Amino acid sequence: MEGSLFGRRVLLIISGGIAAYKSLELVRLLQKEGAIVHGLLTQGGQKFITPLSVSALTGAPVATDLFSSDDDERLSHINLSRQNDLIVVAPATANLLAKMAHGLADNLASAVLLASNVPVLVAPAMNSVMWAHPATEANIATLRARGVLQVGPARGFLACGEEGEGRMVEPLEILDAVRGFFQNAAPSDQTMTGALSGLRALVTSGPTYEPLDPVRFLGNHSSGKQGHAIAAALAAQGADVTLVSGPTCLEDPKHVHTIHVQTARQMLEACQKAGAVDVVVCAAAVADWRPVLSADTKMKKGLLPPSVMLTVNPDILETLATQQMNRARLVVGFAAETDHVVDYAKAKLLKKGCDWILANQVGQELGFGKDDNEIIFLKRLAHDEIAVEPWPRLSKQDVAERLALQVAQYFAQVKRDAA
Ligand code: C5P
Repeated sequence: MEGSLFGRRVLLIISGGIAAYKSLELVRLLQKEGAIVHGLLTQGGQKFITPLSVSALTGAPVATDLFSSDDDERLSHINLSRQNDLIVVAPATANLLAKMAHGLADNLASAVLLASNVPVLVAPAMNSVMWAHPATEANIATLRARGVLQVGPARGFLACGEEGEGRMVEPLEILDAVRGFFQNAAPSDQTMTGALSGLRALVTSGPTYEPLDPVRFLGNHSSGKQGHAIAAALAAQGADVTLVSGPTCLEDPKHVHTIHVQTARQMLEACQKAGAVDVVVCAAAVADWRPVLSADTKMKKGLLPPSVMLTVNPDILETLATQQMNRARLVVGFAAETDHVVDYAKAKLLKKGCDWILANQVGQELGFGKDDNEIIFLKRLAHDEIAVEPWPRLSKQDVAERLALQVAQYFAQVKRDAA
């Protein structure tokens, strides 16, 4: 997706005003510009629009509750306050502005704003008398002095039937303010946007197909969703990404150089031809074996089925992780397991010589073709010690963004160590 907000993460807090319905339009406008939008709807906001309408547009769960029983870590106030480049409050009611000015944290929106260390843009919306009230004026002055950005309000007819200043500005004007913010903003070290510029990344994705004859093959059910999302997430952080993909139904990710292959051997060859890179992520489900012989013409049915002799395919991850020349500074693999996930993944990490492994349990509910992933993140430390970090259940997109952030933090540390 092209656009001036490509890869920017925006948290949209929608509080309770009639203008809340306009925020649905704002979600679309931000997305059209390439932003990744997450929604937070206050109790008041829910009187005007539903969490379902927001999540249908953002494609992600909507945060609504400070003390939610569903312990989706993505929606905790700390995560929401940190994992974005900008927080937009639209509409911003007099009540929420007052809470912000006084540092209250009695609902999810105010708690996120208090816990936040990212810039905030407010689009106030209220009755004109409330807007002109000295209390609101003082609150706005306090917020502005703290660096909170403001767009509007506009003059016009208000929902209460009066005319005056207090209308939320139109979504296009808020979009302009967001664009303006990012044009002027220096790349933030905190959120690491653009943190991988200047680095080269190689990602493998999808299955491989190993031909038996021109129409039949050995393969697997990998959709390529996770690998493609990783390639896109690394590109969004500014990396120069080559994606080597087996056959999938997915579109090539934007801003990524994609090479299409069929077999494991072609995948390895394409990876080796990609030349020196800084980071490799092997997310492909490479077929472990291939038929020794592949017929040139379609095999005919006989009385007995043919026997197929198999031979072992090259292990791409292991080859790239253990190569003497031009080994990437960071090599990351996946380990899909049905049981003993951590133990098997630890063994795999050491055997294949990679630096990190994302281990995931595959079975009925999670795995190939599904949209969510539950990852245990393993990092090799000094003396072959291994750190184990379970991640909450996340969409494959969020896993990709979290991994890209880890990669960005890794290279930021490398840079600091070298300085
Ligand atoms: O051994 P296993 O298939 O479980 O290892 C999974 C990891 O190794 C994944 O990162 C996968 O992309 C990689 N792999 C590979 N080449 C193979 C087999 C696996 O790159 N032939």
